[in-house]
Amino acid sequence: MKNRISTRVAVILGGESAEHDISLLTGQAVINALAHTTCTVFPVTITRNGTWLVPDSDGGTVSTSEAVSPAEGLVRLAALVPDVVFIALHGPNGEDGTLQGALEILHLPYTGSGVMASSLANDKLRTKELLEKHGLLVCRHVVVEKRRYQSQQDAVLNEIRQTLRFPVFVKPVHQGSSVGAGVANDQSDLERLLATALSHDSDALVEELLIGRELTVPVIDDVVTGQPRCLPLVEIRPIGHDFFDYTAKYTAGHNEEICPAPLPDTISAQAASIGLAAHRAIGCRGVSRTDVMLTDRGIYVIEVNTLPGLTEESLLPKAASQAGIEFVDLVLGLIECGIGAAKNKNLS
Ligand SMILES: Nc1ncnc2c1ncn2[C@@H]1O[C@H](COP(=O)(O)OP(=O)(O)O)[C@@H](O)[C@H]1O
Ligand SMILES: [Mg+2]
Repeated sequence: MKNRISTRVAVILGGESAEHDISLLTGQAVINALAHTTCTVFPVTITRNGTWLVPDSDGGTVSTSEAVSPAEGLVRLAALVPDVVFIALHGPNGEDGTLQGALEILHLPYTGSGVMASSLANDKLRTKELLEKHGLLVCRHVVVEKRRYQSQQDAVLNEIRQTLRFPVFVKPVHQGSSVGAGVANDQSDLERLLATALSHDSDALVEELLIGRELTVPVIDDVVTGQPRCLPLVEIRPIGHDFFDYTAKYTAGHNEEICPAPLPDTISAQAASIGLAAHRAIGCRGVSRTDVMLTDRGIYVIEVNTLPGLTEESLLPKAASQAGIEFVDLVLGLIECGIGAAKNKNLS
């Protein structure tokens, strides 16, 4: 498959979100993989402060002094006339449907989920509400809006105490990579963690603490049929961390990722069907990775990722490799899927 596509691919990486560094790794891994194909690659870097570095039509590197505004960046991106834009951004303004919307307006095909699914999955609260309607298990929570918390802190803390018992889990509604998340064992932890979560976001979720085995369910769409298929599950065991936090995620030796997850077939099948159901319910395209917790009360969905990390060491590529899919073929599959989706809509 490596040489099947001869195509112009603009890879967008970096971005303003707290996951800038992770996005650079994902983007670079994609660029490296495509270097061994017949694709022509244009790396488009969004800096931390939101300016764009867009190469010219021969793909040469650009110096930071040539950074342009997002509006100009989009114009230059369109001028490259890419066959597809590979979105390698994580978090807000990349994974949340906003960039996808801009690319729709420019009639540029792109990889991954569309506007609605990206936006929905980026909102952990609405994801839970939707998945619950689809019969999936999600844990109890209280939503904390920053503005209400600032004006009625006691009332909000009271509501949390009445709904949930310590320990609880606190996280921003629209972040990734465990940024601003943590376990609160008591009231003072809760107040500290809410302050942190709300420094990253307009809303936070306080959830019951799920105790069990953490799994992630990787799903990719079959390029030919468009139907989602589940890849081998991965079990995540943080080492020396209460949960799969930022350091555990990105530091070697801080967590064990076991693929395929050592589970009875019936449990694996159940988790796979939950991941597929979540992918379909959200309307994901190309790829998704649903985080779940296997508890003694059943398998709870934690969240759905529409743009999971794509370095060769990341969870989804590991699962793909276990299924015999090389990293480069995973990347090419996403590209074909993106081009196919645009053709389907008849917009390009
Ligand atoms: N309710 C919860 N109970 C226990 N652990 C949780 C809960 N929610 C999240 N976690 C832990 O925090 C990690 C990050 O939370 P998640 O919702 O997946 O956000 P992110 O988008 O940052 O990955 C999860 O992988 C899991 O280890
Ligand atoms: Mg997660």
